[in-house]
Amino acid sequence: MKIDKVHLITFSPTHTSKQVGEAIVQGLTPENLLVQDITLPTGELQPVETGALTVITVPVYGGKVAPLAMKRLEALQGAGSFAVLVAVYGNRAYEKALQELDAKVSQCGFKVIAAATFVGEHSYSTADTPIAVGRPDADDLAFATDFGKKIAQKVSDAADEEHLYGVDVLRIPRPKQPIWPMLKFVRQVLKWKKQGTPLPRTPQTDADLCKHCGLCVKSCPNAAIVAGDECNTVAERCIRCCACVKFCPHKARTYNTPFAPLLSNNFKKRKENKILL
Ligand SMILES: Cc1cc2nc3c(=O)[nH]c(=O)nc-3n(C[C@H](O)[C@H](O)[C@H](O)COP(=O)(O)O)c2cc1C
Repeated sequence: MKIDKVHLITFSPTHTSKQVGEAIVQGLTPENLLVQDITLPTGELQPVETGALTVITVPVYGGKVAPLAMKRLEALQGAGSFAVLVAVYGNRAYEKALQELDAKVSQCGFKVIAAATFVGEHSYSTADTPIAVGRPDADDLAFATDFGKKIAQKVSDAADEEHLYGVDVLRIPRPKQPIWPMLKFVRQVLKWKKQGTPLPRTPQTDADLCKHCGLCVKSCPNAAIVAGDECNTVAERCIRCCACVKFCPHKARTYNTPFAPLLSNNFKKRKENKILL
């Protein structure tokens, strides 16, 4: 069997999910490729044609699919087409994110034929609190391209659409998780909750460093920064994705969350990407 059209749908404020998706598509070598980047509030999701293959890559926030990504996927339609689902997480854990994405996509009429979990540099990672820095790295991207090749092989091995079998995402292998760091992490989070410790709602801007170039405005997925008022962030709209922090060329924006040192200290051990076909 042959699939002529591939859609890559990605929500990726700090671009790690997008890089993983692009590497997978490279391995698929489709004749027709449609890339739909749903990170920014522009453009409508195009319906997926019957028989096409859609690769969806999204980041994990709090063990779930980033809520804004789920919202942007509301218009997804894919009756009679196939999907590959990828959750990208910051080397802590992805909990039920893949299951949540699977439920959404299956409900839209897709048959899920492959799934994966990849590690991306954590959105909160800084020079002082590094978390999965530089990932996806060259090895991760080569692994993603190889995953794409394996999907292409699975498709070509199937006699027809009926024989292109689906996967149960619950069967994806979980990466090794040392128990102590996770316990320490959970204990600290519960302590903050119990004490009612306030966490910063938005990144902060150093007005002396800000040159009002507007890159933060352009990179914000939820219009939380208004052009001309770059030193402020609308708390109700901020999803704390840290795109504005990562892409500020003047290092004027920072997000001083206590999660950064906690994650950096407890999730140093490299987790590996996992695939299911
Ligand atoms: C609000 C928020 C919550 C996050 N929660 C998790 C999490 O539960 N587990 C994890 O391993 N990484 C978590 N991350 C890290 C992201 O999943 C990771 O950095 C991902 O690579 C970001 O994808 P992007 O580059 O496509 O935006 C979180 C990031 C943010 C901004």
